[in-house]
Amino acid sequence: MKTTPLILAVLAVSSAGFTLSAQLKESPLPHVMKKEGRYALFVEGAPFLILGAQANNSSAWPAMLPKVWPAIEYLHANTLEIPVYWEQFEPRPGQFDYSVIDTILAQAHEHRVHLVLLWFGTWKNGSQHYMPEWMKLAPDKYPHVIDETGKPVDSPSPFAAASLQADIRAFTAFMRHLKAADPQRTVLMVQVENETGAWGALRDYSPAAQKLFEAPVPADIRRSMNTESAATSGNWQQVFGGEAEVCFHAWAVAKYVNQVAAAGKDVYPLPLYVNAALRDPLKPGAPGSYESGGPTDNVIPIWKAAAPSIDIVAPDIYMSDSAEYLKVLDLYHRPDNPLFVPETEGAPGVARFFFSALGLQAIGFSPFGLDYTSNRPFEMSDSENPNEFLEPTAQNYRLLAPMMRDLARLNFEGKLQAVAEEKGEPSRTLQFGPWQAVVSYGAVRNKPAAGNPEPIGRALVAQLSDNRFLVAGLFCRVDFHPTNADKRRQFLRVEEGTYQDGAFKFQRILNGDQTDWGVNLGSEPLALRVSLATY
Ligand code: DGJ
Repeated sequence: MKTTPLILAVLAVSSAGFTLSAQLKESPLPHVMKKEGRYALFVEGAPFLILGAQANNSSAWPAMLPKVWPAIEYLHANTLEIPVYWEQFEPRPGQFDYSVIDTILAQAHEHRVHLVLLWFGTWKNGSQHYMPEWMKLAPDKYPHVIDETGKPVDSPSPFAAASLQADIRAFTAFMRHLKAADPQRTVLMVQVENETGAWGALRDYSPAAQKLFEAPVPADIRRSMNTESAATSGNWQQVFGGEAEVCFHAWAVAKYVNQVAAAGKDVYPLPLYVNAALRDPLKPGAPGSYESGGPTDNVIPIWKAAAPSIDIVAPDIYMSDSAEYLKVLDLYHRPDNPLFVPETEGAPGVARFFFSALGLQAIGFSPFGLDYTSNRPFEMSDSENPNEFLEPTAQNYRLLAPMMRDLARLNFEGKLQAVAEEKGEPSRTLQFGPWQAVVSYGAVRNKPAAGNPEPIGRALVAQLSDNRFLVAGLFCRVDFHPTNADKRRQFLRVEEGTYQDGAFKFQRILNGDQTDWGVNLGSEPLALRVSLATY
């Protein structure tokens, strides 16, 4: 038998003490790739789309998991976002309890669901509520932010060296364990902290922080923000004026988070991201009206410069107004940042925005609080129909899950466009070279589209070859017109089918009433393959 490099590698590894089977099962690391300005999350060596659901904050306990998995199954989600609590993970300084992580990993594997783990470490919604008790009881060692009047607020100081060292040690232990315990790469990404920043103070006013606030702004931070006074050196007040406190706190928090992230990435280089509690995207209020120092849209460049170990800054979108929602997607879809929505509402009027995000090559979307521990995060009891809250997301995922790999690939190749209905705009035109795809809502036979009674329509169109398209969506109609106005379209063949195990399964040819005014998509998960010609 010829000795191939693979066999040599396997022999070397097994003689180093690892088991052969573990080595053979090890999958490639998930990673974010960029090509021609577009991003994709690669999983098992190919583009992947996170059809996610985030569990409620207190659901990551073995006793609660039986109320999580059935919801994930009902949703057809392929990824569960679930926290890892520092207080549980390190009950005594330096002693780590891996049991909960191991339970979650084993059960995710059993359910064939990927994970995005959320490190609830120093920050959780701007506070330090997930620090272990031994830290909470030693505020002098692990201090809070000090406000302008000298009082501590409910937020950790980003200048606390002992907190940083403790977080680095714990996060590194967690990532090292993941590396050893998850050769199958069940875990796709890790969120570092949760909605960092501070409420109740714009920044830390402790003497040490004050000294830095009065010192010159580091040149890379000045440059990142491209301010008028970027060329001039100066302290934070001089360079950033009215936003000085927010920018300063963003820099301090980002630097802290970066050190935690870098240490973790060093032992296990999974994609890492941070999530943002947003400010109003259309009418941003003054500093103080939003969480200060987190990756809000105005300080993304500071986060990019100060936290290079973070791959993605991601918006938590708790908005339902379409102008606001679309603006947020636009603000976080940047040449230096893949779009990922790690939290959003599961409400009926919001689910459709997954398609808007897809249209911007989002790598994933994950509504919050979708488990059966309670229907909504702030309610203690379930309503009569616990699936009511899950249904809008389930509709999306039932449709998209079977074709997820195709969609992720087509999107990475720049061949896919997707849109969601906006009130007062009954149709949208998508340009595909010689063809225009017209998506309309509330159309009946040949009457002009009037919009759905509520804006719930969504559609995606992908160009498979010059005159062939994949069409999928809910509550909409899609028709095609040649870009050349002298020509008219004819359908050569419209195939209706479903995707099963990633492959299109033909069911029938649509014609007659079903195509005379375009193809119609309702509430059922259907995929259409459309071949066109002109005359
Ligand atoms: C945003 C946070 O990131 C979540 O952990 C959770 O607290 C939700 N808000 C609550 O709605």
